[in-house]
Amino acid sequence: MTQDPGFSKGLAGVVADATSVSQVQGEEGRLIYRGIPIEEIAEKSTFEEMTYLLLRGKQPTKEELAKITADLKAARALPKYVETVIDSAPKSAHPMMILQSAMAALAFEQGPVKLTDVETNVASAIRLTSQLATVVARASRNRRGLPAIAPKNELSHAENFLYMLSGNVPNKEEARMFDVALLLHMDHDFNASTFAARVIASTEANLVSSVSGAVGALSGPLHGGANEKVLAMADSIGSPEKAKEWVHNALATKAKVMGFGHRVYRTMDPRAKVLRAMLEELVEKKKSDTKAQATYETLRIVHDTMIEELSKKEKDYIWPNVDFWSGALYKLMGIESIDFTPIFAVARVVGWSSHIIEMWQDNRIYRPAAKYVGPTDAHIVR
Ligand code: CMC
Repeated sequence: MTQDPGFSKGLAGVVADATSVSQVQGEEGRLIYRGIPIEEIAEKSTFEEMTYLLLRGKQPTKEELAKITADLKAARALPKYVETVIDSAPKSAHPMMILQSAMAALAFEQGPVKLTDVETNVASAIRLTSQLATVVARASRNRRGLPAIAPKNELSHAENFLYMLSGNVPNKEEARMFDVALLLHMDHDFNASTFAARVIASTEANLVSSVSGAVGALSGPLHGGANEKVLAMADSIGSPEKAKEWVHNALATKAKVMGFGHRVYRTMDPRAKVLRAMLEELVEKKKSDTKAQATYETLRIVHDTMIEELSKKEKDYIWPNVDFWSGALYKLMGIESIDFTPIFAVARVVGWSSHIIEMWQDNRIYRPAAKYVGPTDAHIVR
């Protein structure tokens, strides 16, 4: 038997397991959730409906949709001990670290895992999805020195999150855009945080603890943390006039441009297209926000220059990903950039949970092989 059966750095191209939750079709720039194209989902669906579909693998009837909507609303409050964990974080803590800790605290009362008990696991996932949004809103308000806001029962998941974050009920248009942004971020087959969730859950650790680990994986700048970094990049460029030169410098020094590149997509990320269209609509409506206009213009020039330059270098497989435009959209909605990655988690928790529930139907612990490159005949030296 060979010592090295298919080593692949970063697991590139390795088929680690099977899933029917979602699929990224990298060459075509297509993304499907349970077979449905993301563009159709963005046009016609809602967070509540997709949560049902992803968790259960079937579209809800009217009654089932009403039930999951009610279940999400009913679970919004947090146990006191989780509030204490959030409230005791230092002001300087990054909200992703607060979120990861709060998720671990939500696992305090988890009982033994019942792998194939789909009803129990779906109920747990719905509760977690609802509570994760409350954690993010509370941590954000703490950081801004504002009191936490109790949820409003008549609001949808997206509306209520924005309300708990800002204290104002959002207008219908912005709430719909935010709902679509959540839909776009819900799942993405074996991305790093989902894979992390699956690895943890494959040991039969509970769903909530597995999600806590996934939050840690999402926080990194190569993954979900990129959306916050894109805005920092726009700010550091300073103005649209400087954007072209900035890109030339970045490419000359081999610096990575945040919000560009992907392991699987070899063309435009379909989520980036939908986000850009929504962002342009919002930019048009908020003409008086000159700072936001300048940020958009800076990003547009970075975007166009990158595509132009990379095609010359025969690196035309590096395209903008979902994180390139999302931050600018949230910023125009009045959200601070440090909250962008936690918002990614508000959506992705549905994907993480769906993968875990699916995997547990036929579980086997994830335990890959390593290519050992150390010595094989060493001894203790005295
Ligand atoms: N800017 C400039 N060059 C890039 C970029 C970029 N953003 N991304 C990849 N490249 C180049 C890279 O330098 C390398 O060039 P060379 O072959 O000359 O060494 C080549 O493209 C392959 O890159 P890689 O880093 O080996 O690719 P990977 O599949 O290991 O990493 C990635 C994928 C997304 C981590 C990477 O493209 C990256 O770091 N992008 C910036 C961070 C980012 O936007 N992350 C969000 C990812 S999508 C949504 C999400 O998961 O949150």
